[in-house]
Amino acid sequence: MKKITTLLCLAVTVLGIAQQKIIDQKVNALLKQMTLEEKIGQLNQYTGDNQATGPITINPNKEKDIKGGHVGSMLNIIGTKYTRQYQELAMQSRLKIPLLFGQDVIHGFKTTFPIPLAEAASWDLKAMELSARIAATEAAASGIHWTFAPMVDISRDPRWGRVMEGAGEDTYLGSKIAYARVKGFQGNLGDVNSVMACVKHFAAYGAAVGGRDYNSVDISERMLWETYLPPFKSALDAGAATFMNSFNDLNGVPATGNKYLQRDILKGKWNFQGFVVSDWGSISEMENHGYVKTKKEAALAAILAGSDMDMEGNAYRYHLAELVKENKVPIALIDDAVKRILRKKFELGLFDDPYKFSDAAREGKELNNPEHRKAARDIAAKSIVLLKNENSILPLSKTMNTIAFIGPLVKEHKQNMGFWAVELPGLDYDKEVVSQWEGLQNKVGNNTKLLYAKGCEINGDNKDGFAEAVAAASQADIVILSIGESWNQSGEAKSRSNIHLPGVQEELVKAILATGKSVVVLINAGRPLIFNWTADNVPAIVYTWWLGTEAGNAIADVLFGDYNPSGKLPMTFPREEGQIPIYYNHFNTGRPAPNETATNYVSAYIDLKNSPKFSFGYGLSYTNFEYSNLKLSKNKIKESEIIEVTLDLKNSGKVAGEEVVQLYLRDKVGSVVRPIIELKDFQKIKLKAGETKELKFRIDKEKLSFYNNELEWGAEPGDFDLMIGASSVDIRLRDSFELVINKF
Ligand code: BGC
Repeated sequence: MKKITTLLCLAVTVLGIAQQKIIDQKVNALLKQMTLEEKIGQLNQYTGDNQATGPITINPNKEKDIKGGHVGSMLNIIGTKYTRQYQELAMQSRLKIPLLFGQDVIHGFKTTFPIPLAEAASWDLKAMELSARIAATEAAASGIHWTFAPMVDISRDPRWGRVMEGAGEDTYLGSKIAYARVKGFQGNLGDVNSVMACVKHFAAYGAAVGGRDYNSVDISERMLWETYLPPFKSALDAGAATFMNSFNDLNGVPATGNKYLQRDILKGKWNFQGFVVSDWGSISEMENHGYVKTKKEAALAAILAGSDMDMEGNAYRYHLAELVKENKVPIALIDDAVKRILRKKFELGLFDDPYKFSDAAREGKELNNPEHRKAARDIAAKSIVLLKNENSILPLSKTMNTIAFIGPLVKEHKQNMGFWAVELPGLDYDKEVVSQWEGLQNKVGNNTKLLYAKGCEINGDNKDGFAEAVAAASQADIVILSIGESWNQSGEAKSRSNIHLPGVQEELVKAILATGKSVVVLINAGRPLIFNWTADNVPAIVYTWWLGTEAGNAIADVLFGDYNPSGKLPMTFPREEGQIPIYYNHFNTGRPAPNETATNYVSAYIDLKNSPKFSFGYGLSYTNFEYSNLKLSKNKIKESEIIEVTLDLKNSGKVAGEEVVQLYLRDKVGSVVRPIIELKDFQKIKLKAGETKELKFRIDKEKLSFYNNELEWGAEPGDFDLMIGASSVDIRLRDSFELVINKF
């Protein structure tokens, strides 16, 4: 069997190489026919006029430019009708090179899935791959060839609005998710239900100073390699077709003009064969950075650094030809960029049929596929994190007499979509999105009377609605309160210096709790928020993030126990903004605080605990899991050896449930200091009530490796702590082992 698989793999590889060769021949033949202007045209990307995901440049010549062969790609053109229209323009150009249509398909297309950070909380790689697969299927059926996703930026700063778009703070989890998402989007690239992925933002954008969007990044080389680059490498290993560079400067050099990042690392060391698109206008913005004096110099810096396509910057369009003629840019660099782009157009099959993805019948079918909604509901439920559940208030009984559902988010539809939902023309959100109110109604039917009061707005200081809310609460058996941020308080250009619950919502919580009723709070947000009073006083708290089109149903599934929550936080929740950046895998320092109250000459705040409010990896279930019987096959290994780790996991509660078993390591001593704890593996396991399963993990040299004091990847001899638990602070099993390396 193994032999047959190996032979099959070999056959696929040989076939792939042969196909690549044929494509390369076609690309070279086409390139020979192209004028310099036509070549540069392939490097130019314009936005459509209907949607701007950045500062749009008014350009009445777009259509003329397409016909003239001056445009290689468009973004923000949605739907088979419009993509077809624009492709028809490209077919009027001299060489009839098809356009690529790109779009931010970040968490679904028509069927909207949870925001990426929420999905990351599911720790369910298969579900995330499926959500990307479905998003790709719908987008591709709508004429899109290319999504600007996944965003794989690690971030340790919840003030940064774009944390909603990524997988959180952890490099290991982020790398696994990056891989799954690329696989999901790309499927079998070239099929009509696949789109190219674009891994972004290369690189280190998530480390923007102060969590302010577009801001500078100043990090060490080690941190770049150890924390920020691995998810990009993982996405590349999954076969990512394209990369996007980023708005930030990295240690003084804008990422867009950064040769070290793009040519040396990505296209050099990593041998990336796809193409790099700039971020929106990021080439011309190098003028603002003060890195270049003119747009022409910006074009020069970007092309030399390895940015292949200019998104809405108009720098390549108007300056690159001149730079070539002045011998400032070797034609070989232009040819290389053009080839990278043309290769993708051939791989997608656009030269055989430029309208391959613009098929109205398929669009109609895929955009209304009920299976997609089912998957969206499933992953939405999996993304929810149960933060608190005192006295097992949850799950609720379906036979309660009266429930008061209170709060500014209860009857909202569009809010649930979160930032970066695709704005399909004419989409009726009220019909498309299941509100939380509708979800609850669907669940309880006529068995239970539902009372509603808005209470207050998300933002603002008006408390006029409190009395009505309190009155509704007083008549109910239980109160569910839905509060949080607004969908557009997180996302691009949505950094906040204050990440507490906005407006008077926490005061509403206090007023409702004062009625003495049992209260469940739902918190909707695109980032970790701060809600200390609620966390300390409300008995049940459910973090829902933004869950997409099936939000209401998924929330009801969790509230009533039809889905037992299994989400775990992919980011640390601070107590106050003053702790930021806060992350679980920090160093120990020379004076670690021995406990939460010690402050004297130890690494601590004199006015706040060090610990977060909720830790990385944390999340409750309606059942309990017992961890036992940890065994290591060896406690001493050589470099070439592995340790097999086994343990028993038992569902000791009364209902079935899923647990994310997390394996952490600590390298006790290194040539550079190592984090006090680091996620190195995890498994999400479903167990029936009373069921026990044996789990197996493997530890090999790779898991023990890091960038040493010479910035070389490798493991060092010495002792390691092994910790297995239900979160980064809820360690249930411990052991240790030694790595022996004989150096001669
Ligand atoms: C964002 C990118 C996005 C692009 C196109 C930029 O402002 O940073 O992530 O893909 O716009 O919409």
